[in-house]
Amino acid sequence: MKTLVKKVNRENINKDVIKHGAELIKKGELVAFPTETVYGLGASGLNGRACEKIFKTKNRPADNPLILHISSIDMLYTLVGEVREDAKKLMHLWPGPLTMVFKKSKLIPDIVTAGGDTVAIRFPEDRIAHELIKEANIPIAAPSANISGRPSPTNAEDVYYDLEGKIPLIIDGGPSNIGIESTVIDMSEEIPTILRPGFYTYEYIREILPHVILDDALVDDKKIPKSPGQKYRHYAPKAQMKIFVGFEASDRIYDIANEQKNLGKKVGILTFEDKIDRFKDFYTISFGQKSDLRYMSHILFTALRQMDREGVDIILAEGVNEKNLGKSIMNRMKKSASGNIEYL
Ligand code: TXA
Ligand code: MG
Repeated sequence: MKTLVKKVNRENINKDVIKHGAELIKKGELVAFPTETVYGLGASGLNGRACEKIFKTKNRPADNPLILHISSIDMLYTLVGEVREDAKKLMHLWPGPLTMVFKKSKLIPDIVTAGGDTVAIRFPEDRIAHELIKEANIPIAAPSANISGRPSPTNAEDVYYDLEGKIPLIIDGGPSNIGIESTVIDMSEEIPTILRPGFYTYEYIREILPHVILDDALVDDKKIPKSPGQKYRHYAPKAQMKIFVGFEASDRIYDIANEQKNLGKKVGILTFEDKIDRFKDFYTISFGQKSDLRYMSHILFTALRQMDREGVDIILAEGVNEKNLGKSIMNRMKKSASGNIEYL
């Protein structure tokens, strides 16, 4: 199959491309499209066969449910059972990088929910995503548009790299604004539970819902996550990766980098702007200023994929404290490195 890549300008949206995308979705085909978090691989969320294609194309484990993307609150009420007061409070963050899990309605094919009785819903803010869902006039099921296990794609080139020849259309809206996936919160039971931290942090959600809790697995790395997708190896670059956290992280990275270089390995370094000069002899990508976690989360997946393109054998990365956005970032980084982390 030939994969078309069609550019759309967010400021002046090309309706023809949106119409083409919506037609494909309605016909049961797959379309990759930008959202403010990462690119999604979309299919009609009410068409079980189309959703099956998502699983095949991504090589996604069948027990990992999909998120349905909506373009209005009205759409929500057809897809879910009870909507609790707490969920209504969080709806003020919609449209935006927040996914809520509800009891599902009968309309939803089993494959979307991986056979479970709950469904994840997100109302994205990105204008291109919004127009596409509105034009298709059906909820769009969309996981991140990567082959399962790889870092999520934050631009059309990264989608093309993974899915070229496998899908008919990629809508190219340029780089995703946020760069890490939405916060997933289970609202289907009495106590709201954060299953995946994202742009909206635990600390932030707690200000709206003081009784929100973090899934056990986000507190203790040894616990099994409640969200199926969180238990798999994930976000993994091709290179081996190791993370270092603490005051002496940079010194340790420096030593190991030289050691590995002497062994003939190509070393990639991910560190903060003030340390970059030290690593001139290596392939480096900057995480920006340590105080700007927003930038770090924006660049993380893009940087991991860039490391792959550069063909590095080993990535040595500086991590951060697991507070606020740091928790969401470290959630991704630890999975990328398969838990290979050193605290100094
Ligand atoms: O930002 C995002 O959320 C992106 C964009 C494309 O919207 N999508 C995304 O989808 O990250 P995906 O499939 O890569 O991750 C969805 C996560 C997985 O960890 C999955 O297990 C979880 O949400 N999830 C989906 N439905 C669920 C459900 N009913 N109960 C619990 N977790 C669920
Ligand atoms: Mg994903």
